[in-house]
Order: sequence, then C-alpha cells, then structure tokens
Amino acid sequence: MKLAWPVEIAGTGASVPDKVLTNEDLAKRIDTSDEWIVQRTGIRERRIAEPGQSTLTFCTAASRQALERAGMTPEEIDLIIVATITPEHTLPATACELQAALGCRWVPAFDTLSACSGYVWAMITAAQYINSGMANTALVVGGETLTTITDWDDRSTCILFGDGAGAAILRRSTDGQSGMLAARMGADGARGLHIYIPAGGSKEPACLRTVNEKLHYMRMQGREVYKFAVSTMRSILSETADDAGVSLDDVALVVPHQSNARIIESATQKAGVPPERVLMNIDRYGNTSAASVGIGLHEAYEEGRIKGGDLVMLVAFGAGLTWGSLLLRI
Ligand code: ACO
Repeated sequence: MKLAWPVEIAGTGASVPDKVLTNEDLAKRIDTSDEWIVQRTGIRERRIAEPGQSTLTFCTAASRQALERAGMTPEEIDLIIVATITPEHTLPATACELQAALGCRWVPAFDTLSACSGYVWAMITAAQYINSGMANTALVVGGETLTTITDWDDRSTCILFGDGAGAAILRRSTDGQSGMLAARMGADGARGLHIYIPAGGSKEPACLRTVNEKLHYMRMQGREVYKFAVSTMRSILSETADDAGVSLDDVALVVPHQSNARIIESATQKAGVPPERVLMNIDRYGNTSAASVGIGLHEAYEEGRIKGGDLVMLVAFGAGLTWGSLLLRI
C-alpha cells in the first residue's frame, strides 16, 4: 500500500448545539410523525442552533478541540479551509473569521462551497497544499447552521437538517505509515437544481419579494437525489479502494455523509460493507451537510472505533451535484 499523500490527521474535534429538536417536536408543527421520519430517514432528533449561535460558534469550538487533541496551538496552523453552505456572513469567508477567532497567524483562509461533500473535498484540498510544500499543517472544518436555510413549513426537507461542525488538523505524516491512500472527487453541474437555494445570489438578489416567496430556503428533489446518492456512494466506495489496491474488506470503518440511513445502508450493502463497519449517527444529528463526516470521524476516534494503522474511508455526496471519497490510513 503506497501513500498517495503523506498527510495525516493530528487531531479532530466536533461541536453541536445543546438544543435538541425531536421528531415529536416537529410533529406538533407540521403534518408528520416520528414513525414516518424514522422509517424514511433514520433520524430521531437533531441539534439546532439557539439565538446567538451561528456557524462560527460551532467551527470555533470544533477547531479548539481538534487543536487540543493534536497538542498544537493556533500559531502552528499554516492554512485554514472551511466547508460550508451557511457561512457566518456572505462576505468575508468564514475561514477568515475563524482565523481571527482562534488567534491564528495571517495564514491563507478560504471557504469551499460543495455542500455535503465539503469536508471530504476540503481534506483532499488541504492535503495538496501540504504535499506540495506550501503548508506544513492545515485546519479543515465543515460547519453549518442549516436550520437558517430550512423552510419549516416544507415537511419533505425540514425533517432532515441539523446544525454543528467537525474539524481536523492535518500535518505532514511523521511516520511515513499514516496518510492518504486514494481519493475521488466529482461534480455534475447539470443536476445543480436538484438541491438549491433560489435567491440571495447575483441571479436573484435578496429583496422583499424573494423573502415573502421564501426563496432563501433550500429546495430539493428528494427522490432524484436519493437515487443519485445510492449509486454514486456505492461506486466511489469500490473505485477508491481499487485505486489504493485494497479490498473494502480491509477497511476498518466507513464514515459516510449522514444524509439518510436508507441511503447509507443501501449504498454500503451494495458495495459489500457490513453495517458494523459503517458509522451511523444520523439518528442523533440528522443531516448536518458539510459538518457530518467531520463529526462522524471525531466520534469514531473518541469512541475508540478506529486505532492507529486502520484504514478509514470517508465518503460523501451533496448539492452541486458533488461527490467525494478519501481513503486514509490513520
Ligand atoms: N411526513 C410525512 N409524510 C411526508 C413527509 C413527512 N415529513 N415528507 C413527505 N411526505 C409524504 C409525501 O407528501 C408523499 O406523499 P404522497 O405519496 O401522498 O404524495 C410521500 O410522503 C412520499 O414522499 P417522497 O418525497 O417520495 O418520500 P421519500 O421516500 O423519497 O423520502 C426523503 C423523502 C426523505 C427526502 C428522501 O427522498 C431523501 O432522503 N432524499 C435524499 C435527500 C438527501 O440526502 N439530500 C442530501 C443533500 S442535502 C444538501 O446537500 C445540503
């Protein structure tokens, strides 16, 4: 097994709001039920931001924890990438705000907008900077406050989303053993309107009408996305393992984007990965978009589900449409 990029994870962190919104809570506001939501999605509850909390709140807390786990200080970070579709402000980048909040040096800091694939794409991107010598360390964060772009009257989407952030510190591999073995990234912009926010961009700037018509909330063609998700996740799992010359049987844990339990079960089962080697926490957090893989990876470390030398596969898909995978030896 040859490392594609000798870039390892030095530490991880996660942060979610304390406030819990259960399916029963939702059923009091819209025409739905706990039974429908659990059966169709696997979600039982999600965490939602309270007044005063926003994407930077969760990104900062997750980053501090990742730094602490890595035994590093903010001054040691050479690059910051934040993956988000719910930035702190439209301008400037949340990564720049995070740099200031953490007290990092004046290092490059930028956001990426690849929705639920964001954390995986940001990890792969940061690895290129380290591998090329442009940086020795990087802070990668996926953070969202999706509840701010959720239409709470649309029962087909509002049941899905939650808030939070996942972070990782990357650095040049110190032992030559741990690192990144293979990765895949892709996008199909022709299917971009399958998941989108109609207004707030240059095509439809915000105005009273767009607010009144609820054009600032996420819209999704759920069934189309579902079909795309299952087939894409299934194929990139196998292709990424093939690229690295390993079998999926050798992978200790798959950490998938937590979109829908049925999507994850169907894709991993078709790829031949048994459920005990697939991380699932959607029941507690719902879909947190760019944050979900980072939160899942952090939980896997904290719960001792993965240990040094293990192969770990990250896999995600999302708006764009986009997809990405990353095989790590931790
Ligand atoms: N409660 C009760 N009934 C509901 C609800 C609800 N919350 N939502 C929809 N229904 C009804 C519909 O009205 C429909 O009723 P009808 O048959 O009388 O018309 C029926 O349930 C079936 O609706 P579908 O939309 O076909 O339900 P489906 O089984 O496809 O589940 C879901 C919907 C959960 C959204 C699913 O399609 C899905 O998970 N899609 C993928 C979403 C995803 O992963 N997105 C990720 C990207 S998000 C991002 O990038 C930020």
